[in-house]
Formats: sequence, structure tokens, C-alpha cells
Amino acid sequence: MPALVLLGAQWGDEGKGKATDLLGGSVDYVVRYQGGNNAGHTVVVGDQKYALHLLPSGILSPGCTPVIGNGVVVDPSVLLSELSGLNERGVDTSKLLISGNAHIITPYNVTVDKVTERFLGKRKIGTTGRGIGPTYADKINRVGIRVQDLYDESILTQKVEAALDVKNQMLTKLYNRRAIAVDQVVEELLGYADKLAPYVADTVLVLNEALEQDKVVLFEGGQGTLLDIDHGTYPFVTSSNPTAGGACTGAGVGPTKISRVIGILKAYTTRVGAGPFPTELFDEDGEALRRIGGERGVTTGRDRRCGWFDAVIARYATRVNGLTDFFLTKLDVLTGWEQIPVCVAYEIDGKRVEELPYSQTDFHHAKPVYEMLPGWSEDISKAKTFSDLPKNAQAYVKALEEMSGAPISAIGVGPGRTETIEINSFL
Ligand code: IMP
Repeated sequence: MPALVLLGAQWGDEGKGKATDLLGGSVDYVVRYQGGNNAGHTVVVGDQKYALHLLPSGILSPGCTPVIGNGVVVDPSVLLSELSGLNERGVDTSKLLISGNAHIITPYNVTVDKVTERFLGKRKIGTTGRGIGPTYADKINRVGIRVQDLYDESILTQKVEAALDVKNQMLTKLYNRRAIAVDQVVEELLGYADKLAPYVADTVLVLNEALEQDKVVLFEGGQGTLLDIDHGTYPFVTSSNPTAGGACTGAGVGPTKISRVIGILKAYTTRVGAGPFPTELFDEDGEALRRIGGERGVTTGRDRRCGWFDAVIARYATRVNGLTDFFLTKLDVLTGWEQIPVCVAYEIDGKRVEELPYSQTDFHHAKPVYEMLPGWSEDISKAKTFSDLPKNAQAYVKALEEMSGAPISAIGVGPGRTETIEINSFL
């Protein structure tokens, strides 16, 4: 049963694109199971750099079938422009499959995302403004529009009417905005129907049949564990489940089918948007991590907040996802520090706490307890095996592994496809 889940173990942007891409050649299906075009993967193939937001990174591997699962929210205009952008660069995208049950991000969902954030003022979440939260809210409220609705004009019209009924009241009366016309939305959405039709499929059936035939299926999470709506730093989270269980509901595959869950872990920590972040740095070290690590969002272009590695979070990620392995990324970014602080516990109201506190108030008060690990100055980007790493870099990796509770099976030592040390194969 070669079904693997690959997900972010921190607040997203851990470098998942690189990991998926590394596996891409030997994987038959790469499946996105949640989120939408709020995600951003940068994949480097040869001298070409690709920034993907909605499409699974398997789209770049010729033998692989990329799948957008039922748990994803799809903005059709973004999807079509991402596809045509790839086609222009010679990438064949014809194998893509999209679940008919995936929900559509409508133009009014994007409007609502933006106006609500503005209305929240100081208390805003710092969303990507792509309509993600409002689309999931419509799904849960049972007024969402699904991909399959594009193929029944009458149903689509009724559903858009129902959705706009309340929203237009809110937009005009509360937010002082103009009402959105039903027929305009319907017309825009119908305009996507033919273009998307070749890709729409019963992806649940396809994936389960593939697993029965022992095909390799990789479930690729967007965002990260701490941005999970249930297990993250609520309310500063995204509106879906990037954690491992989300792969089952978001793709229609039973938990007994999942054989491996790989957590992508950055050698330090970053976060975009608002919310608590105990190891955040406001000094020149934070600035250096941002500069050396190129920590700027692929989707929003916002600078990422940067801080030292947090082992409490890594242990938590191991637990809530049942992680079997870690892929440690961006180790090269830490080259040059004499000593590297690693957060091993928190101090909350004068008490040492080893595990992530379940109370939001406590987490907001958590101060990092640091252990200093010796750094290295040698260039590690050419290292091919673990023993090629300087002794202190080896010790740093081993210490992180011990603190985080799962083996580190691969290490990223540079942005390129080949700049990876594979310790244990993922397949
Ligand atoms: P939303 O997903 O646009 O609703 O944003 C909710 C929160 O998740 C915000 O703090 C975003 O910055 C954050 N977020 C969403 N997608 C990503 C991602 O791919 N990487 C990192 N943070 C993200």
C-alpha cells in the first residue's frame, strides 16, 4: 500500500515543493487534499523555477497524474491561468484530474475575504485574501458551489442565488459595498465549464483503484500543521485540515491505506500572517535568516516572520500527524552561525513546559527555553551523504531528530533538485 502523506510540520512554507518533486519521478499520483491557491510551492527543475499555487507539484513530472481532491477549494480563473502558464513553458498538463466535489472559490468569496479582514482591523488574521475561508464557510453552511454544479445551469443559478441572498445583505448593509448580481456570477462560472470539463473526474474512485493496483500515491498537504483549523494556533489558521487526517477526508481514501506520513521541517522556523510564534526574532539574526533563506511568500510576496527551530512544535507535529519521518529542509541557511539556539521547551508564567499548551492564552505567553548548539562554517551545499556534513551540522541534525520524535530521512542542503541528502528512501 504505497500511499504517502507529505505535509508541513510547522506553519507552512517548509519547502514541500522540493520534497514532492524529489519523489515525483517514482510517484504515480500526486494529490492535493485541502486548501487552494493560498498555498505556494517553488519547484526548481534544472535551471527552471516554477511557482505553483493550486496545482499539485506532480504536474512537473511527466509520468505522474496530478489530482485536485474533493477537499480542495478551486478558483477556476487561477487554475486556468496556472495551466496556460505551464503550457506556454512546454509542460504537458493534460493528465490533471479535478474532483467534481471540490468547491469553487467564487468572485463573491474573494470579496468577502477582503472586506472581512478589513473590518477586523487590528484583529485581522492576515489571510492571503484569496477567498479560502469564506469558501470553506459556504461549504460547511451547505451553500457552496461545487465543480460539478458548472454542468447544470439551473442548479448553479439556484445555488448562487441562495449564497448571495445573505451575502448581499451583509455586503450592502454592514460593509457598505455594492450588491453582487447573480446572473453575472453565473455567467462567469459557466464560462469556465467547457475549459475545465476534460479534467473533471470521480477522483475518489480513481485513487482507490490506483491503490488497489499498488500504484504509488502521494498526498501533498498545503500550509502546515500549526495552520490546521483543528490542531493549529486557532484562530490564526487556515480554514482546512493540512494534518494527516485531512488527506483521508480530502481525497476519499481510508486511513488504513496510508503507509507513511512525512513531515517537512525547516531547520529554523517561519510564519506569515498574524498569530503567536514563540521563537520569532526581531533582531539581525531574524533579518539574516530572512535574507539568506529567501523568506518571502510565494503567493503573497509578504516577508515571512523568522525565528529559531522550535522542538516543541516539531514534537507536536509528530503526535497529531503520526509522522513516520521528517524531511529537514534548508539546513544550508544556518551555515555561518557560531552557535545556533534551539527551543527545547517553553517557560509559561515561570514554569517550564515541554509540550505545546492546549490553551491559546498560555501559548501566547510562552517564552522559548533555548539550548545552544555549536554551528559550522563550511559550505554544505555539495554534501551528498550524511557523513559529508561537518561534524557540528551532523550533531545539529541528530539533536533535532532526537527532540522531534521521528527519524530525519532526508536533508535539504540547497534549493536545487539534486541538493538533497537522502538517508532513508521514502519508497
Ligand atoms: P488563508 O488560508 O488565506 O485563509 O489565511 C489564513 C492564514 O494562513 C494566514 O496567516 C496566512 O498567511 C496563512 N497561510 C495560508 N496559506 C499559507 C501557506 O501556504 N504558507 C504559509 N502560510 C499560509
